[in-house]
Parts: sequence; structure tokens; C-alpha cells
Amino acid sequence: MKSLIQKLVETPGPSGFEYAIRDVIREAIDGHADEVRVDALGSLIARKGTQTEDGMRVMVSAHIDEIGLMVTHIDENGFVRFTNIGGISPLTCYGGRVVFMDGTRGVIGIDGIERGKMPMLSDLFIDVGATSKADCPVKVGDVCGFERPFLDLGKRMVAKSMDDRVAAAVAVEALKRLEATPHEVHFVFSTQEEVGIRGATTAAFGVDPDVGFAVDVTRSGDTPRVNPKMATALGDGPAIKVRDSSFIADPRLVDWMVTTAEKADIPYQLEVLEAGGTDGRAIQMTRGGVPAGCVSIACRYIHSPSEMVDSDDVENAIKLLVVLLSAPIVLD
Ligand code: CO
Ligand code: ZN
Repeated sequence: MKSLIQKLVETPGPSGFEYAIRDVIREAIDGHADEVRVDALGSLIARKGTQTEDGMRVMVSAHIDEIGLMVTHIDENGFVRFTNIGGISPLTCYGGRVVFMDGTRGVIGIDGIERGKMPMLSDLFIDVGATSKADCPVKVGDVCGFERPFLDLGKRMVAKSMDDRVAAAVAVEALKRLEATPHEVHFVFSTQEEVGIRGATTAAFGVDPDVGFAVDVTRSGDTPRVNPKMATALGDGPAIKVRDSSFIADPRLVDWMVTTAEKADIPYQLEVLEAGGTDGRAIQMTRGGVPAGCVSIACRYIHSPSEMVDSDDVENAIKLLVVLLSAPIVLD
């Protein structure tokens, strides 16, 4: 499992440029799905199972894009200026290393900041080692992701893009382990979540599910001065989302998820996330509306190059997803 997560987090794929990570997913699920297709926005959709009388068409969505940077212009000395793809804080950038889709590397520098003043993204630049604009190997519109090796701390794992590659790993593993299901399950590895839940929006319309689940990371409320306070903690089990700022999970589905977790003796925690959204919104709001929920993995330092998750939470999230997808879904 750790090697799959490592492979997923170390493959670059900022929103809109998911071709390399999509190939890694395709290879990881090879031979385990009944049908695999890619939609126009690049989401990979793997169908598994045949719907029986007790079954539904179920969508499970984990996004495979990650936050990154896009080149806006290059100055006469070859310094690369950029804008953000998704939610990037200047705090996590300075001194960081980036890798462009063609393998070009660079470091993020900053200057001209007044002492004590919070920098803005426009104060930062990427230095790719160019000596002039003419020999700069990148051009306007090129994208890069952060570069940081996977770190195995035993029970805890750290990497850039745990959001949401750890959930992609959970979905891959659940797809592989799912044996008997009454449902036709569509595992969606969605694109462009970080820029507005776009891939899941078209995927949900295309799949036309009866019910759906997002799988994503959520904030962890167990660091020293977390603000706002949150009930989640690393290691307390997968989180069953009640609400985030993008959607309110269907309460019937939440109840059923809780009951199912308890029956299967899988630890879980309840989650209310005050700022942040997931593919669950796209599923819920598609067509005439669809009951939707979300299985979350608590994560520290989200959207930094060092996002931390707990190994037991990952394993239990897989177990929970498999159990949820193996039973008839009861909404009452
Ligand atoms: Co994110
Ligand atoms: Zn995410």
C-alpha cells in the first residue's frame, strides 16, 4: 500500500494536466474493472459489478489532480513568474522545489519583502537556473507541481499531494478488493477538483448515479493551536463527513454509513469541515439531485508540500469503502 501511495504522490499532475497520473491509475487497476473509460475532461472512470435487484448505480470519486503553479511570464533575467493552480499559500512556497511536466526543475525564491510583512504569491518567482530569458527552458502556460519525496514515518506518512492521491490509493485498493457487490460501481478518478470540482461535475452527469461518495482528505483538528477547532484527529479512523462548505451530506446516507461502520467494527469519526469542499458536491448537485456522502481521511498541513496522514486511517478507509459498496444501500 505504501509503495502505491508513494508512486501516486510522486507523479506530477496539477489540475488540467493529469495525463501522467491518469496513466499510473490505469496501470494500478489493470485487470480489476469491467470497463475503463476517460471522459472529455480527462477523468478516468472504472466500472465494476452488475446491478442486482437490491443494487444501485454508485459513483465513488477521488480526485487525481493536485495544486500547482502556472507560468504567467518570464523576466529578462530568466526568472519565472507564476500564478496558482488551486489553493497555494505563499508560506509554503519559499525555498520549495518544483518540477515541470517535462521534468525541468526549479526553486522558489523571494525578494523585496518588507520585514514582518506577509508575502504574496506575486513576490515569489521560480529560478530554473536560466541565465537569461532566451535560455529559459519553460514558457508561458507551463505548469509545475511541488517536488518533495515521500516520507515514511512508520504509522504516519508524509508527502505533497496526499490531497488527494491518498484517497485515489484508497479507491484503487477498494476497487481491487471489492468482490461481491449488488451495485454497478463507477470509480471516478476525477480531474480539476482543486480549481472548482470540475472533473467530478461532468463525470457525475455522465455516470448518472443513484447515490455517490467522494473520497478526500479533510483537516485534522489535533495540532497545537488549530483554528477553527475541529473534531477530527489522525488515527481515529476514516471520517464520515456530515458537512463541509460545499455540501451537506445526505443525512440518511450519513446514518447508514455510521451504522454500517459500527456493524463491521470499523473505527470512524464524524466530520464537519468549515472551509473546504469535495467532489461530493458535484455528485449531489448533478441532474435532478443525488444522495451523496463522503469518506474522508484526516490530514495535517493540507496544501503544503508535507501533508501527513495516518496509515491505519488509510487501511480503515479502504475497509469502510469495501463494506459500504458490498451491501445494499438503505436510505430511510
Ligand atoms: Co485540495
Ligand atoms: Zn482534495
